[in-house]
Amino acid sequence: MNDALGNWKRTHYCGDISSADIGNEVCLMGWVQRRRDHGGLIFIDLRDREGIAQLALDPDRDPEAHEKADKVRNEYVVAVKGTISPRPEGTVNPKMKTGEVEVEVSELRILNISKTPPFMLDDHVDVAENIRLKHRYLDLRRPALQKNMILRHKVTRTVRSYLDEQGFLEIETPVLTKSTPEGARDYLVPSRVNNGQFFALPQSPQLFKQLLMVSGYDRYCQIVKCFRDEDLRADRQPEFTQIDCEMSFVDTDDVMTIMENMIARVFKEAIGVDVVAPMARMTYAEAMDRFGVDNPDLRFGLELTELSSIVDGCGFKVFADAVKNGGMVKAINAKGCATFSRKDLDDLTDFVKIYGAKGLAWVKMTEDGWQSPIAKFFTPEELEKINQALDAQVGDLLMFVADSATITNEALGRLRGHLGQKLGLAKKDDYQFVWITDFPLLEWDGEAKRHVAVHHPFTAPRDEDFALLDSDPGKACAKAYDLVLNGSEIGGGSIRIHDQAIQSKMFELLGIGEEEAQEKFGFLLDALEYGAPPHGGLAFGLDRLVMILTGSDSIRDVIAFPKTQKATCLLSGAPGEVDDKQLQELSIRLRTRKKE
Ligand code: AMO
Ligand code: AMP
Repeated sequence: MNDALGNWKRTHYCGDISSADIGNEVCLMGWVQRRRDHGGLIFIDLRDREGIAQLALDPDRDPEAHEKADKVRNEYVVAVKGTISPRPEGTVNPKMKTGEVEVEVSELRILNISKTPPFMLDDHVDVAENIRLKHRYLDLRRPALQKNMILRHKVTRTVRSYLDEQGFLEIETPVLTKSTPEGARDYLVPSRVNNGQFFALPQSPQLFKQLLMVSGYDRYCQIVKCFRDEDLRADRQPEFTQIDCEMSFVDTDDVMTIMENMIARVFKEAIGVDVVAPMARMTYAEAMDRFGVDNPDLRFGLELTELSSIVDGCGFKVFADAVKNGGMVKAINAKGCATFSRKDLDDLTDFVKIYGAKGLAWVKMTEDGWQSPIAKFFTPEELEKINQALDAQVGDLLMFVADSATITNEALGRLRGHLGQKLGLAKKDDYQFVWITDFPLLEWDGEAKRHVAVHHPFTAPRDEDFALLDSDPGKACAKAYDLVLNGSEIGGGSIRIHDQAIQSKMFELLGIGEEEAQEKFGFLLDALEYGAPPHGGLAFGLDRLVMILTGSDSIRDVIAFPKTQKATCLLSGAPGEVDDKQLQELSIRLRTRKKE
């Protein structure tokens, strides 16, 4: 196999031949997708990353090539020379890019053989994901995944050229570093040279990009790996990629404008979709009120309506008590869903319970009024007011949750998203962007009994909220913004604190003592004392963005070598155990060692 290629040179990708090439001699190389034997005539579908070409081998035309073709099996690597010719009448395949032509093969070389793959490499077979991940190099041969990777490449290429035009400099920041506070656990790396000490892998380049602003680089960007040891979900990976940006001498509007234009360019170049800019904006308070979440999916209605003032003091104790105890009652009207079965309603009730709701009260609107286990608790006036507030019509299904504001919003907000999917209201090719602004600066952590930063501790409060930092810090809003697309947070950022005194004040509010602040972020605090310009930025989740652009349901489908839900790599077997010698060098002794 040493001189496998001989002097053969590929002339075309398989997917690139067309009727324009008819009569031409070509040389193709690729993998055998399928071989069909038609009593003498052999057809081979030859695949490479650009597509599939049909090869025709006629025993009369070239017996030698035909004989070799008889030996090829799926996934063999093959090179052929031949002539492009039109497919015979009736065999044209309009579904294929190359479906009008075939290659009349004159010579064939088997470049390598293949074992039978553990699964069929086409996009129609349903194979357990763990098998696909174990043989990821085969899975990655599938056209669907190749398309995703190619589109991902197009996205980063577009991002780089846009940011370059806008004057951003791509600068690398360290991977072996100290903890960055983004709210997740750190991945730690022990230092051999500095025994007993650890690096943390960056959760984001946050501190370094701010330092680059202090250093006068003005506009920084980086397409960068970030590492977070957190619970994984369909749109989360322990190592993921950010499109990370930071700019000096800007305010919120400047950052949002530059970034939304970048996203519009990406959508146009990657999938040909025109995105309207400026994009919609909504305050955090409005998002919570209308949708119960800070990442609302605006492709459909099903908005939440608060009924607290109507049901205050009503005869249904569950509702009345929730309001009395400082909580709230909210409802969703699912138009035309009065047909839901008892089982549907029980399933929805179980669904909201995941988010802490104690139940889901429901009403079916019929010709005779409310059909509901809770109808008896309300006066006709109350019923009328509720109907009006929810615009309830015959055939509608009303669903209520009564609880603390946090639980009510989360339970109904998630239920809304769930119903949007279940009812098919969320169309994949509909792209609804919204900036969420005016986030609270702080939130109360009941367990730790102290405030924590909603975005991160370097985010500036709104100018008009400075006074609140002393009087009522929980009420202060931040100069922070998230870009939400179809219910997914694709990016987030803020204007930063550039004044050392305010940064210290912020740490104080977060219950981070001077010593701890100095130990953890001393280098940033010091830098802020040497002429830090006003600055701000944002980071997009590249993987999430590509997920939406490719219509993928799993983040793993847009990452070449992803981790499982349990944060392992089935392909390489990482993480794995290490030698005692390596541990010794690091002065690490394990409390438990798995028995062989
Ligand atoms: P944030 O923590 O919001 O901000 O992260 C920015 C974006 O990164 C994506 N993302 C993830 N994607 C996949 N898997 C994960 N585990 C994961 N975690 C986050 C999201 C998110 O919007 N330094 C700040 C940015 C800034 O202030 O400039 C930061 O990291 O799409
Ligand atoms: P119960 O009086 O407990 O039988 O509940 C009557 C209905 O109210 C049932 O459909 C429950 O699911 C629902 N329910 C109970 N608690 C709540 C709550 N906190 N919010 C909304 N509905 C509730």
